[in-house]
Amino acid sequence: MTFYLTPVTGKLLINREEELKQILSELYKQDSRIGFSLTGIRRVGKTSILYDIKEKLERKGIVVIYVSVWKTIPDTLDTFLSNLFDETMLAFRNKLPFKMKMSELVRMSKETLLSFLEHLKLSFDLGADISYTASYVRGDEKDVSKATIHTLNLLDKLAQKAKIKCVLMIDEFPSVTELKIGRKMVGPAIVKSIRTINETYKKTVLVISGSYMHTMQSVALSAKAPLYKQLINIEIKPLDKEAIFEFAQTYLRKKLSEGAVNALLEASSGIPYNLQILGRELDYLDAEDLDADAMLKAVASVIRREGDLHFREYMNIMQSTEVKVAKIMALTNARSPKEIADGGNMQLNEVTALLRNLLDKGIVRKVGRGEYVFTDNMFKEWLKHIC
Ligand SMILES: Nc1ncnc2c1ncn2[C@@H]1O[C@H](COP(=O)(O)OP(=O)(O)OP(=O)(O)O)[C@@H](O)[C@H]1O
Ligand SMILES: [Mg+2]
Repeated sequence: MTFYLTPVTGKLLINREEELKQILSELYKQDSRIGFSLTGIRRVGKTSILYDIKEKLERKGIVVIYVSVWKTIPDTLDTFLSNLFDETMLAFRNKLPFKMKMSELVRMSKETLLSFLEHLKLSFDLGADISYTASYVRGDEKDVSKATIHTLNLLDKLAQKAKIKCVLMIDEFPSVTELKIGRKMVGPAIVKSIRTINETYKKTVLVISGSYMHTMQSVALSAKAPLYKQLINIEIKPLDKEAIFEFAQTYLRKKLSEGAVNALLEASSGIPYNLQILGRELDYLDAEDLDADAMLKAVASVIRREGDLHFREYMNIMQSTEVKVAKIMALTNARSPKEIADGGNMQLNEVTALLRNLLDKGIVRKVGRGEYVFTDNMFKEWLKHIC
């Protein structure tokens, strides 16, 4: 059997029927303006769900535009708008009489571009949206909000013209707030533009996802957030025991004892990414029946052989002091701020603040009052391994 480190859809997407049903039943409705925000820790399967929804909507003739803010490299507003423009053109390719990419449009002079658009006999306002974005990306125009609004307007106008519903998916949405122009941060203004435009959309709905809880709160979930009330939030949770049985059946085709499933749940924290890497390891084993002991051995050998490859990237999102707290937690099993502070000779208020950051980044979660544990037990094991 094959295992995947990239998003999966269809039959390979285990145990997300309920989430899909809730989201799709709304998105299928031609006249519904209700959108969604998906939240969940890293590697829990948010992008997989978005891809699966995209496939299913497209089968019903609904146009879906998917953009990931993390794939906006460099992380500038220009790149984001260019990508969004190109994805819009791609999504509407069968409904448009022409093909164009932003990189081609910006190479034309303003005059050539205008006569090109005129030649295409686009309705006046579509041409205006396209030419403004192109001029902005080229550097001739400077108004950021106007450029954003023109690009975002374009897709809804195309949807209106084609008389079709359109779903705009923005993956890792909180990172929009980090988009820059030169060295200037323009993200928060862009989030507001997205809110404003979303209110005026006639045929388009927004679906966003994000893994940083605090940022997601401030853009979409709290009562003061720009997108509050415009989107229904769904939290994507790690897989439970029943789902892990299903995973084993679909991917491993081996018999797992109840003890083995419990051990797999504990080792992986139910995070699908971990199940994929552990699954591949278990698949190598000759034994047909796998027990809890086999699980522990599989975890140890994955961590030893390829732990760096899978888990080092978590270090990039953490400050060195946050890493210190995480390492104390991993090595000593400390759970409370006081235990951690004692374990690392740190100030209690500093530890409390750092735990708040780790909570926001989804590295730890709260259990009971004032107790914190890792959201990802494999990351914990890897930290122990490198210390
Ligand atoms: N329901 C599922 N069943 C089986 N495998 C899954 C499932 N959901 C996700 N995966 C696998 O888990 C990994 C992470 O999935 P995905 O990229 O969709 O998660 P994500 O939450 O978007 O992660 P990231 O935080 O990196 O953006 C991939 O290897 C994917 O194949
Ligand atoms: Mg993702």
